[in-house]
Amino acid sequence: MDRIRIVGGNELHGVIPISGAKNAALPLMIASLLTDDTLTLENVPHLADVEQLIRILGNHGADISVNGRRERQGESYARTVHFTSRNIVSTTAPYELVSKMRASFWVIGPLLAREGKARVSLPGGCAIGTRPVDLFIEGLAALGANIEIDGGYVNATAPAGGLIGARYVFPKVSVGATHVLMMAATLANGTTVLGNAAREPEVVDLAKCLNAMGAKISGQGTSTVTIEGVRSLSGARHRVLPDRIETGTYAMAVAMAGGDVILEDTEASLLDTALEAIRRAGAEISETNSGIRIVRNGAGIKPVDIVTDPFPGFPTDLQAQFMGLMTRSSGVSHITETIFENRFMHVQELARLGAKISLSGQTAKVEGVSRLKGAPVMATDLRASVSLVIAGLAAEGETMVSRVYHLDRGFERLEEKLTRCGAHVERVSD
Ligand code: EPZ
Repeated sequence: MDRIRIVGGNELHGVIPISGAKNAALPLMIASLLTDDTLTLENVPHLADVEQLIRILGNHGADISVNGRRERQGESYARTVHFTSRNIVSTTAPYELVSKMRASFWVIGPLLAREGKARVSLPGGCAIGTRPVDLFIEGLAALGANIEIDGGYVNATAPAGGLIGARYVFPKVSVGATHVLMMAATLANGTTVLGNAAREPEVVDLAKCLNAMGAKISGQGTSTVTIEGVRSLSGARHRVLPDRIETGTYAMAVAMAGGDVILEDTEASLLDTALEAIRRAGAEISETNSGIRIVRNGAGIKPVDIVTDPFPGFPTDLQAQFMGLMTRSSGVSHITETIFENRFMHVQELARLGAKISLSGQTAKVEGVSRLKGAPVMATDLRASVSLVIAGLAAEGETMVSRVYHLDRGFERLEEKLTRCGAHVERVSD
């Protein structure tokens, strides 16, 4: 199994190209099941989760081709992928496929809308909390679906004439349930109004793509999204938006290691709250024509308290990385996680590098230390694992991160992107 070896101490200088967002690409790919025409997605990141979803969509009958000619984008390669689901050959998403990635559960929306039925295994995914699916079930039931849970599967059936537009207010903000309800409602009879909807940029990107396919969605990016049902959707061409979590991760890496880096092909407006926290920690951040420049020269890292929240709040997907940064601050910071109840698994691994962190309920108290020391550590989930890489960049000596398959789920060419900026990071295959 591959490991990542980091020798800390080098500053980062150079340009890091930001990939297309994993968490936008996944729902966009799933949206291709809504039409028998071709959906072409540009800027699709090459990640284990994307490959896994390609297998899942293939199981439903999607014909998928990746452009032979890879689109050059800085040092990285963004792929253009064509999805054509002329016929849905199966409305079942089996346990073997869905258990590997939670987002694959989301196929329930398009399958139900287009075929009138879906049988989808209850999901798996990163072990960061219980992550129930009650909001999906309640929301789809509001659109008239009949839903039963049997033997680990959700069996959903639409009324004879198809799903029916309705008003549904989410009792809690959920990105995935907003994606699914939005997709399902595009082909429903009548108008659906979703209240307390997620406002994440990935939801906006999905709505934009669905509208390009002929859907009638408005209000995306606010907490009330309105979807007027249409009879059918067509193909479209859509560019996946930049990955704000990858952007924030590298910004924090520079804040941690010091240096001067341009994050290319991304937008500051996707992560204002996180950038503000990094700024308060002592880095200088400015916008460039094509992205963001981040500089930390000499200044120490200041302690900053954060609380994770749905967009536009501080993203839970950057919480572990920010904690990594705070381990070297000059004081005490508090990091509160409000989205997932078990997203602190990086704490004990960061402690192996010498970090001083104590947990009290949903809040971690991080007492900054003047030095971290490299050690063997283990990746526990996607974002936790990259927090160990960030800490390793500033630790003395060698940090060896094992179980890097977690990293490969969500970070495209991580070691290459960091190495080109002067970091000592390499993949070691046993
Ligand atoms: C998306 O997960 C992201 N995944 C996550 O990123 C991200 O952490 C999360 O949104 C929050 O921003 C993808 O986009 C593929 P939620 P999702 O439904 O949609 C509870 C990463 O590292 N909830 O917004 O699964 C849930 O348990 C991943 O890239 C219910 O209670 O998250 C959580 O506490 C990890 N019932 C909260 O809502 C439900 O039916 C928010 O979850 C659904 C969710």
